[in-house]
Amino acid sequence: MSPTQVSLRELPHLGTRHLGQIGGLLRPGTHASPLLEFGERFVITPPGFPAMLVTHDMDDVRELFANHEDFSVGQVLSRFSSHDMMFGKQSLIFLDGEEHRRERRLFGPPFQSKALRSYEDLMVEVVERELPKWPVGEPFEFLTAGYDLAIGVLLGVVFGAVAEERRDRLRQAVIGWFGEIESRGFLAVTLITPLIGGYTLPYPPLRRRQDEVDAVILEEIAARRVAPDGGSDRRDVLSRYVGTELDQHDDVALARNMRGILLGAYETTAITLGWIAAMLAAHPEAMAELDTAIDAGDDGRLDEYLDAVVAETMRLRPVSPFTGRRALRDTVINGVAIPKGAIVIVPILLIHESPQHYKDPLTFRPERFLTDRPNGHTWLTFGAGAHRCLGASFALAEARILFRTVLRQRRIAAIDGPIEAPRRFHTGLSPADNARITLLPR
Ligand code: HEM
Repeated sequence: MSPTQVSLRELPHLGTRHLGQIGGLLRPGTHASPLLEFGERFVITPPGFPAMLVTHDMDDVRELFANHEDFSVGQVLSRFSSHDMMFGKQSLIFLDGEEHRRERRLFGPPFQSKALRSYEDLMVEVVERELPKWPVGEPFEFLTAGYDLAIGVLLGVVFGAVAEERRDRLRQAVIGWFGEIESRGFLAVTLITPLIGGYTLPYPPLRRRQDEVDAVILEEIAARRVAPDGGSDRRDVLSRYVGTELDQHDDVALARNMRGILLGAYETTAITLGWIAAMLAAHPEAMAELDTAIDAGDDGRLDEYLDAVVAETMRLRPVSPFTGRRALRDTVINGVAIPKGAIVIVPILLIHESPQHYKDPLTFRPERFLTDRPNGHTWLTFGAGAHRCLGASFALAEARILFRTVLRQRRIAAIDGPIEAPRRFHTGLSPADNARITLLPR
């Protein structure tokens, strides 16, 4: 170690009595956390876990995200949860180095801005289909609507036009699989995983559900290989792979990756849609801005302000309030020596709530993003670096298009009182009352 380097041993260490306070960094109001007295870097070593450096020193964060060779995000996920079983160890987030770069090049294009425009009509159609089912003038849980919108868009965008009978089987298989992921049995497996060194116990019911989804996807891939354009001008994600230069996997791997994309996109999108609705209900002044744009027929202003609402919601309620990387070898970030196996945690929400980066950080003020778009270092809802969310542009466009379509037909009634609280005992941030709002006619 060079003399100017600092080792983890030399940084402040949290004692056992402080460990219970870590949760305070994962919930809104992070700046009231007593842990901030330890400074921008501190180390935690819960019994049985590798050393973890928690840092919100922005030079550390920048260097960490820029260093794709020495760190793995998948190894953090599999150490703390059963994500490897849910996604499969061959899915993008579990790959590192050159293998990850190659797969990212292959799976990225359908989610980049050039392709996004072609999904817009489908997103509008999904809202037109779902919106009549939602009550008007009485409270309902927008999170549930968010899940229906998210799955409708995903199945449509990823698979496009699928023969009706097969489409219904696919939907049922996917819903059954998501249900199994949320089952008590799998929850128990997930909770045990971090306590037994990151080993995920076998859980055959989930395997069966995954196989059911893969079987229908494989059928669809086989059908496309026989009739690639299905008689129409296909623009869905699967068609952008099958028979194109991106088609470099065997069908089993392609099906597994399509399934992985569904999982990565589903809950994150639904929860974000829920939070946007909850934020608009709690901030009538923002809703009034949108009403003005809609009443004036000013689509440009509507989209611009909606983008700002989405960015501001995701700043204050990032679905994942932290991310992390595990060192694959001994390495150094910004002068701190990180031994192989140690984990570096980036407290995203704490950075988002910092007065160093945002003026009046706890106030919901979409206007801050009208002139300045979110900054890739201090707005980290989609992570950063080589593993930054593959669907980030897609998710942002989707939120704008879905809400634009909803709000042209409905208004969101103002609520008295604070923003809905996040669910307790949940590592992610999800609205505790399922984003309870009231829609009014427009
Ligand atoms: C609001 C919605 C979403 C949120 C908040 C979100 C958040 C994230 C985060 C935090 C990561 C890890 C990044 C890191 O640690 O640096 C990630 C990775 C990923 N996300 Fe998303 N995501 C969303 C929607 C989507 C969508 C719509 C898709 C697909 C269409 C998607 C596909 C992925 C994939 C494939 C990865 C792994 C990327 C890699 O390892 O290279 N996500 N996402």
